[in-house]
Amino acid sequence: MTNSQSRNALITGASRGLGLALARQLAPQGWNLIIDARGADALEAARIELSHTDSVIAIPGDVTDPAHRRSLVEAAQKLGPLDLLVNNASILGPSPQPALLEYPLDVLEQVYRTNVIAPLALLQALHHHLKPGACIINITSDAGVEAYEGWGGYGSSKAALEQLSHILAAENPQWRVYWIDPGDMRTQMHQEAFPGEDISDRPLPEVSVPGLLALINGTHPSGRYAARALSPGEAQ
Ligand SMILES: NC(=O)c1ccc[n+]([C@@H]2O[C@H](COP(=O)([O-])OP(=O)(O)OC[C@H]3O[C@@H](n4cnc5c(N)ncnc54)[C@H](OP(=O)(O)O)[C@@H]3O)[C@@H](O)[C@H]2O)c1
Repeated sequence: MTNSQSRNALITGASRGLGLALARQLAPQGWNLIIDARGADALEAARIELSHTDSVIAIPGDVTDPAHRRSLVEAAQKLGPLDLLVNNASILGPSPQPALLEYPLDVLEQVYRTNVIAPLALLQALHHHLKPGACIINITSDAGVEAYEGWGGYGSSKAALEQLSHILAAENPQWRVYWIDPGDMRTQMHQEAFPGEDISDRPLPEVSVPGLLALINGTHPSGRYAARALSPGEAQ
């Protein structure tokens, strides 16, 4: 176990994209990190990079797998109470995304298992290992609010994650619960959402990280935030 002054975080889906960009900012600030992703090679590359600045435990696996979630909990037990849980891992579903009337229901179930059930399951398994006042971040999307054609599977999963987060916050005033729209980001998921399109005009995920840090390090009330509407120390 690390000393009681250090800050501990678990970030899901931190082998690339927004999760890795956030981990890159937290590690040099003295955070001890637990990270995961399904792809072991990319996760190991992230662990090696992040380990240059601080303690990083990387556990490959799928957040929908109960055995993998148990491994994450065991790592948290060894590390010490968590200050921060970031439910960032998410899948888009089919690429290109089908209209709802053609949406394969088995894939929809997988999207919901990953984007909605797994974040709650992880919190259920971990909540005894959170410090009082801990920060829980669930990464959602404007697709959870707006009715974009073709976004019915992923978008409805993010809508469910938003409402789940809202009620979690009402039921748990001892935590800061944030559900956050990071904005469009130039990542693998975004390319899958726009197959064959040039997405080079979208900002890199690093642009969304200062808003996340403002919430993590601040005292904002639980609620929904747009990452890029926040600057360090500033509420939406
Ligand atoms: N990119 C955008 O424009 C955008 C916009 C709004 C919201 N978001 C949200 O922002 C968050 C980050 O997205 P991103 O664009 O950075 O995506 P990304 O580049 O596809 O990265 C997703 C990360 O999650 C991991 N992951 C995916 N499924 C997983 C699973 N079942 N178990 C464990 N890890 C898993 C991926 O690694 P593996 O594939 O190896 O598992 C990867 O590390 C997501 O919640 C996304 O919905 C993105």
